[in-house]
Amino acid sequence: MEKSGVFYYVLVILDTLLSYIFLRRNKRKPQKRAKLPPGSMGWPLVGETLQLYSQDPTVFFASKQRRYGEIFKTHVLGCPCVMLTSPEAARFVLVTQTHLFKPTYPKSKESLIGPSALFFHQGDYHIRMRKLVQASLSPEALRNLVADIEAMAISALDSWAGGHVINTFHEMKKFSFEVGIHAILGHLEPHQREDLKKNYSIVERGYNSFPTNLPGTPYKKAQLARKRLSKILSGIIGERKEYRSIGKDLLDSLLDSKDDKGEFLNEDQISDNIIGVLFAAQDTTASVMTWILRYLYDDSKLLEAVKAEQKAIYQSNREGHQQLTWNQTRNMPITYRVIQESLRMASIISFIFREAVADVEYKGYLIPKGWKVMPLFRNIHHNPDFFADPQKFDPSRFEVKPKPYTFMPFGSGVHACPGNELAKLEMFTMVHHLVTKFRWEVVGSQSGIQYGPFPIPLLGLPAKFWKVSTP
Ligand code: HEM
Ligand SMILES: *[C@@H]1O[C@H](CO)[C@@H](O)[C@H](O)[C@H]1NC(C)=O
Ligand SMILES: *[C@@H]1O[C@H](CO)[C@@H](O)[C@H](O)[C@H]1NC(C)=O
Repeated sequence: MEKSGVFYYVLVILDTLLSYIFLRRNKRKPQKRAKLPPGSMGWPLVGETLQLYSQDPTVFFASKQRRYGEIFKTHVLGCPCVMLTSPEAARFVLVTQTHLFKPTYPKSKESLIGPSALFFHQGDYHIRMRKLVQASLSPEALRNLVADIEAMAISALDSWAGGHVINTFHEMKKFSFEVGIHAILGHLEPHQREDLKKNYSIVERGYNSFPTNLPGTPYKKAQLARKRLSKILSGIIGERKEYRSIGKDLLDSLLDSKDDKGEFLNEDQISDNIIGVLFAAQDTTASVMTWILRYLYDDSKLLEAVKAEQKAIYQSNREGHQQLTWNQTRNMPITYRVIQESLRMASIISFIFREAVADVEYKGYLIPKGWKVMPLFRNIHHNPDFFADPQKFDPSRFEVKPKPYTFMPFGSGVHACPGNELAKLEMFTMVHHLVTKFRWEVVGSQSGIQYGPFPIPLLGLPAKFWKVSTP
């Protein structure tokens, strides 16, 4: 993400050329019954990848939508693809016809995370893994984590205070990583946590770089770090088999799980899913929290309202001498609307990819087998038919429940985010301690967006924090 833009485009084009050559080999003509959706496939080879990456993607998609409507074809990142911009179409792909569309990721990314991670799968294995992940992130399980998450939020905030400039996004990432590790693996020795953190950050850097086996490249380094992660996790698994912990975290659930034949999961399946959940948990939550700080900073009246709500809870907890409870976090309506509006405005998962496993017909249009399908969440979230004056940050719009399938920050259907309750708990806890005990100032006057690869405030929102004594 720190790379120069031009270099990145060159890589994208190279990637596109390679995949195009590969795709041509196993392309076959769909039989003509229904017609393909409208749209332009762009230039030969490169398709419309350049257009997608050389301007704000929202603008790119929105102009297509104006021109072609709720469903249109295009060609990006080496793949023919159908984009969907209506709630009905998203529901069709993600919920009602979910068996016709499988998740799809580039092989290079799949192998870094670990091919057995649940989100690469569809069917029985996915259902089995998903149950385990969901159980360990359910409200019942999260109740037991509130105190620990609160302690992590306080310690993070204290470390920011003092008026030095911090990179808000980077700091939020540290926080969401700590929380993620704790939810998944419970208590760890400090050296184990450090080794996981350092090696994981190398994997992450490689994930967003050009995949090549050349030694010394970020991708190659990431592969090596990923192997070390497996080793570290294998050590942790070995210890856990000897000394079971008292609580039940995701690792315990994974170790206990047996299939119909009585078979346990193997170590690769366990570590791929641990890395996968951690991966899904960190940047997503961190970027939304960074946006929340931006939006609150930009609207002092709103900030006052959130402060009043949180101060009342703080005071009922005897100025913070009592811990925040799960029930209290469920009872922060103003803060909750700020979170929802931040999720809508920032739409950090702007779209997702699926692949048609058969020729599929939707409203008279053909989606050929093998084509990618992309529900465009950001367009739906920014459509004035569903959200009046969509570019305006206005939490009060959530006083009324959004119409079905118009608000999907956590996706929908069989792959919908199982971590959404944890993500919200982190945000509530962070906002509670931030606004009751700290003030902050954003450094610099620019207010743009940066893609890293999720949209985040420019430069990760450099900011200064001070602890204020409560009146
Ligand atoms: C604000 C923060 C978050 C956002 C916006 C978010 C968003 C999403 C979305 C849109 C999906 C669906 C992807 C798809 O259908 O292809 C998803 C899936 C997933 N998320 Fe989250 N997520 C967040 C936080 C978390 C956290 C904290 C965790 C775990 C602790 C997590 C774990 C997962 C997992 C494991 C999946 C894959 C589920 C499956 O394939 O069955 N996410 N997330
Ligand atoms: C990665 O993990 C290994 C243990 O497998 C550890 O020795 C090393 O210090 C960790 N950190 C880095 C940056 O490689
Ligand atoms: C939390 O809320 C639930 C439902 O609103 C209630 O049944 C429960 O008694 C509350 N727990 C505490 C500790 O206040």
